[in-house]
Amino acid sequence: MKISELFKIAIEAGIENDPSKEKIDEIIKNKTEKYNNDKYKKYLLNEYEYNPYIDSNLFFNDDNLDIKNIAIGIDVETPELLLVDRMRERGEKIDLVIGHHPEGKSIFGLNKMISIQEELLISYGIGVSNAEKIMSESVDKYEKSLRGLNYNRAVDAAKILNIPFINLHTPADNMVHMFLVNLFEKNKPYKLENIIEILMNEKEYQYAYANNNGPIILNGSENSRAGKIYVDVTGGVEASDKIYEELKNKGVDTLVGMHMSESHLKKAKEFNINVVIAGHMSSDTIGMNLLIDEIEKKEKFEKIYNLSGFVRNKRN
Ligand SMILES: [Fe+2]
Ligand SMILES: [Fe+2]
Repeated sequence: MKISELFKIAIEAGIENDPSKEKIDEIIKNKTEKYNNDKYKKYLLNEYEYNPYIDSNLFFNDDNLDIKNIAIGIDVETPELLLVDRMRERGEKIDLVIGHHPEGKSIFGLNKMISIQEELLISYGIGVSNAEKIMSESVDKYEKSLRGLNYNRAVDAAKILNIPFINLHTPADNMVHMFLVNLFEKNKPYKLENIIEILMNEKEYQYAYANNNGPIILNGSENSRAGKIYVDVTGGVEASDKIYEELKNKGVDTLVGMHMSESHLKKAKEFNINVVIAGHMSSDTIGMNLLIDEIEKKEKFEKIYNLSGFVRNKRN
């Protein structure tokens, strides 16, 4: 399979599982318009017009290659690429490296993905103007802090070592979002204890548990009733902590997330929202595994190497 082919399958799966799916056409239209009206567009690449996820890109592509063996990592940076180079030197065949967390130009798309969270809030009944205001505050905050990064280090390393390199961020997070939403809808957890039980049926959470990093309750107890659940695992970056008051007003009782900062936990406690943390590497790994399952429906890889935080688990 060609790199651009597998990338397209992943993007399409991400769209299919996007909580803001009905806005995707508009996002793509805006992206194209922005490109067409850009005064300096000759410096830009607009190769993948079907891709609404600007936090997911092909950094170093070679479509002459037939991809048979891949390596996947949740974080792929220079150390992981050196590792791949070392493995290749020892005779392992690795045609492509796929990372989850954004590197290079994908980093500057990260905060824009928050529009997904905006749609999620609206779907829970929160007013459009409030949802827009809360999310735009976060976009601005990250816009400033991301600018100063030495953003292309990993991409530069991949080019130096001649290793094809792409990343898939929001498409994977959308997969795990929908996966968890469906799990809870199907199994209807009564107590927080039951949420943990449902999560612990999945290999990725069992693996994290074996490494002392399984799902945990950060607010509430095993016996607290789960009530109305809000799954918070996609949409780029952490939104403003103002969401807790809004969620509480719309009757949300329990939030299930990948990870949570101290200030957010404080707010969740203040508004008496139960918090279950499923786990970061484990949840991201589910998202990536589900994407790879989709790609493998077209063609199976000969070998998949696990890198940094990722462990392959097939579901089909
Ligand atoms: Fe993620
Ligand atoms: Fe992540």
